[in-house]
Amino acid sequence: MDLTLDSVFADATERLAEAARNRRHAMHAPVVGTADGDLRIMVLREATADLARLRFHTDLRSAKISLIGESAPVSVLAYDPDARVQLRMRGEGRIEHSGPIADAAWDKAAASSRRCYLAETGPGGALDAAGSAIPEDLLHRAPTIDETLSGRANFAVLLVEVRSLDWLQLTHEGGIRARFRRNDAASPWQGSWIAP
Ligand SMILES: Cc1cc2nc3c(=O)[nH]c(=O)nc-3n(C[C@H](O)[C@H](O)[C@H](O)COP(=O)(O)O)c2cc1C
Repeated sequence: MDLTLDSVFADATERLAEAARNRRHAMHAPVVGTADGDLRIMVLREATADLARLRFHTDLRSAKISLIGESAPVSVLAYDPDARVQLRMRGEGRIEHSGPIADAAWDKAAASSRRCYLAETGPGGALDAAGSAIPEDLLHRAPTIDETLSGRANFAVLLVEVRSLDWLQLTHEGGIRARFRRNDAASPWQGSWIAP
């Protein structure tokens, strides 16, 4: 089947939606970049079909929280080596600590996933010795749901409204690349083919 700009865009969004559902998917943990030039791996939790929202979970005490705040440029990079597809996205990020999206995400999170928000020192904080800062008695077991409740104070979501998507597939013939842009989530995507 010949590729079209529509089919390429659908490939990207379906790939990301599946990556969010499937922890074994190659794009499950993309690289997230901030405007200070820093990069980090984050687990993709949700990708809406129009890319108006990529959702990640994070600790409110981490450095990227103040960097992103209510609005900041964020980039997301994912690669699927089997399909040889690279997705490069840029958009506007925002952190939400309270509100329906953060509340629903926390409610759905399993106790084992909530455990990292119980760490007594937040990400990047100094420790006297190597370790996770998770309370000793929870190091080797999942907490009960009741034991995780205090972690909610440290839990936040990073939401990214994607405004540009660069899709590249490497092929023996040199590759195929398309770029999609829009000004904001209310505007239509404009796609074009570009040289790889
Ligand atoms: C496989 C993997 C998955 C990760 N998932 C997340 C995640 O979902 N959210 C998160 O905030 N950090 C996640 N991290 C940790 C980040 O890469 C990073 O170290 C941490 O968020 C602190 O980043 P910061 O100092 O830029 O805030 C993950 C790391 C790895 C290796």
